[in-house]
Amino acid sequence: MRAHVFPDYEAMSTAAADAVAQSLEEEPSTVLMLPTGITPLGMYRRLVEMHRTEGLSFAGATFFNLDEYLGLTPDHEASYHVYMKENFYGLIDADPARIFVPDGTASDPEVECERYEAAIAEAGGIDVGVLGIGRNGHIGFNEPGARFDSRTRVVELSESTRKINAADFEADRAPGRAITVGMATIFASSAVVLLASGTNKAGAVAAAVEGDVSESMPASMLRNHPNASLFLDEDAASDLGQGVAG
Ligand code: PGA
Repeated sequence: MRAHVFPDYEAMSTAAADAVAQSLEEEPSTVLMLPTGITPLGMYRRLVEMHRTEGLSFAGATFFNLDEYLGLTPDHEASYHVYMKENFYGLIDADPARIFVPDGTASDPEVECERYEAAIAEAGGIDVGVLGIGRNGHIGFNEPGARFDSRTRVVELSESTRKINAADFEADRAPGRAITVGMATIFASSAVVLLASGTNKAGAVAAAVEGDVSESMPASMLRNHPNASLFLDEDAASDLGQGVAG
């Protein structure tokens, strides 16, 4: 896993957008896997700007989201369907037939997970997976302890993740479960770019990069990936090289 440290959030976001744009320019039918959260907003803003001012097209691309809350309708304002539409898919020339987000209201969530895995396989697998990282080291909603061989499945969110996510919901209404793309599904991506910004991610970043490769620190799995990059701003990199261990 190669770590790239950028001076600030904007520079990191621009670099992430450039990496996505480059893959699209080389291969317009690129299959992308994309995250939600605060961290990727700058990347999405820059990609939308490149679409508007530089003619970057997403028309041939396929998009898979990393996760979705279980039980939220696609029009719920805190759903990742709405997040992606408002911040990205609704602002570019994406083909709606090639946008995939797990259905949090599927009558049988297990079947939905299988359907999602099958759709990724049918698309030929993920070319570029962009990820955030949780303060606890989660990637997607693969919380500490997630097996490295896991596939897309229903997961329980950890207490700390629920607390952080609660800000997006009315009092104690934050969902406790989600559908997430699995660890092995992420690992099978041809390239992975993990983004981290801010001092509140510094501990997780240091543990992922310098601690043990362990299922207790999900992001550490990427150390064994042949083409994984870590894009950090200086704050997120601030605990690196301090002798921090897993
Ligand atoms: P954030 O979320 O970008 O909102 O910090 C990242 C994550 O929890 O995976």
